[in-house]
Amino acid sequence: MVDKAARTAFVCQQCAHAAPRWLGQCPACGAWNALVEEAVRDTRRRSARSAQASAAPRPLVAVAAGETLRRSTGLGELDGVLGGGLVQGSVVLLAGDPGIGKSTLALQACGALARQGLPVLYVAGEESPEQVRLRAERLGMADGIGDVQVLPETAAEAVVEQLERLRPAAVVVDSIQTLHTATLGSAPGSVGQVREAAALLVTCAKATGVACFLIGHVTKEGAIAGPRVLEHLVDTVLYFEGDSGHALRVLRAVKNRFGSTNEVAVFEMGESGLVEVRNPSAAFLAERPAGAPGSAVLATLEGSRPVLVEIQALVSRSGLALPRRTAIGLDAGRVALLLAVLEKRLGMPLHDQDVFLNVAGGVHVAEPAADLAVVAAAASSARGRALDADVAVWGEVGLTGEVRAVGRADVRLREAVRQGFRRCVLPATNARGLDAPDGVTAEGVASLDQLLDVLGLR
Ligand code: TYD
Ligand code: MG
Repeated sequence: MVDKAARTAFVCQQCAHAAPRWLGQCPACGAWNALVEEAVRDTRRRSARSAQASAAPRPLVAVAAGETLRRSTGLGELDGVLGGGLVQGSVVLLAGDPGIGKSTLALQACGALARQGLPVLYVAGEESPEQVRLRAERLGMADGIGDVQVLPETAAEAVVEQLERLRPAAVVVDSIQTLHTATLGSAPGSVGQVREAAALLVTCAKATGVACFLIGHVTKEGAIAGPRVLEHLVDTVLYFEGDSGHALRVLRAVKNRFGSTNEVAVFEMGESGLVEVRNPSAAFLAERPAGAPGSAVLATLEGSRPVLVEIQALVSRSGLALPRRTAIGLDAGRVALLLAVLEKRLGMPLHDQDVFLNVAGGVHVAEPAADLAVVAAAASSARGRALDADVAVWGEVGLTGEVRAVGRADVRLREAVRQGFRRCVLPATNARGLDAPDGVTAEGVASLDQLLDVLGLR
C-alpha cells in the first residue's frame, strides 16, 4: 500500500506554502481556497538525474535552427491558426465553453489526419466509443475512420502507456478534465489533477514526438481547474469562441510557441460538422436589417484579419430608477464609459433610457476601435434615424469625446471596400494619408460632434 500522504502535499497557489492536508485558508499568507494537491517530487533523486544529463552551454550561433516538423492537419483554417500546421511533439490546448464544438473540431482534425494515412488516437474520457463513432458518422468520416483509434480511458498513466506503444502521429485527449493520475488523491477535475495529468502528457509528447491536443472546458467559475491553469504548460493555446445559439465560431490562438497569435479562423457549425467560413464579413453581416435605426457596421480586426461585424443598439425609455445597461459581445465597462461620454459631451439624454448593445452573430469584440460604431449605433437608436446602408465605421473614443487613431486603417478600409461599402468614417489622424479607391470616401472625424454630423444624427 502506497502512502499517498507522504508523496503529495497541498501547496498554496499564492505563496507556495506546503501543508500535509487540505485547509480552507493558507496558514502562511491567509489566502482562502488556495491550497491545491500536488505531487511531491523527490528532489534528491531529480538533482542526481539532472546532474547526469546536465547540458553544457554552447554559443547560440552554433545551434542549428533545425526544422520544426510540421504536418497539415488537413483543415486549412486550423493549420493557419496553429502557425502553418501541427508541429510534431507539440501540445495544443483547445479550450472553450461546453457545447461550443471542441470535440467536433478535434474529431474532424483526426479524420483529416487519418485520410493522409497518419495514425491518430482519440482518448474519450467523456463519451463512449459508440458516441464518438456516431459523431464520426455524422461528420461523414466513414472513409478515414480506419486509422482513428478510440480509447475510452481516464487514467493518465494508461494513456501515456498507449502512446508509447502505438506512437500515433497525433492524440486527442477529450477532455483533460476527465483524466486523473494515481499520484494524487484528489478528485478528477481538480486543479492538481488536471495540471499533473497534463504535465504527464507534455513530457510524453516531447519524448515520443506525438502531437497532442488537450481539450479543456472553460468552467463557469472561470479560472478554477479550467484551461487557465494549463496555459503555461502547453505550447499552444487555442480558444474556441462563439455563442452556442449561433452557428458562427471563432478559433483564436492566444499563445503559440510555434507561430503568431494573430491568426484566427472562422467556422460555421452545420448539420455535418464545422465548415470553414472563407468570407467571415459576409457571414456576420448576412442578416443585417436594412434601414433600421440602431445598427452600425464596424470594421474590426480579428488578430491580423479584418472582419466586418454589425453593432446593434436599442435605446428605449426606462421605467426603472436605475436604467439598464446591457452589452453582449462588448466590454460592459467600456460601453458604460461611451454612453457617459455621449451624454456629457453631446448632451444626449440617456440617464432615463435603457440601453442594450449587441454584436450580431455572437462574436466578442474587445478592441477599442469598436467605440465609434458603438456610439454610432446608440445615437442612431436614440435619434430613431438609420445610418446609410453603405457606411462602415471604426475608431477609438477618448473621455473628452475626441476620436483617436487605431491600427491598420488601410486593412480595414480594404475589407470594407471589398464587401461593397462606399463610405468609411474613421479617425481623422488615420484618414490622413489613406488612399481610398475611386468611388469610395474615407471621412476622417476628430470628435464625436463631427461623427454625428457626418452620419446625419444631429
Ligand atoms: P461538441 O463538439 O460536442 O462540443 P464540445 O465538445 O465543445 O462540448 O458539439 C456541440 C454541439 O454541436 C452540439 O450541441 C451539437 C452540435 N453539432 C452540430 O450542430 N453539428 C454536428 O455535425 C455536430 C457533430 C455537432
Ligand atoms: Mg466534447
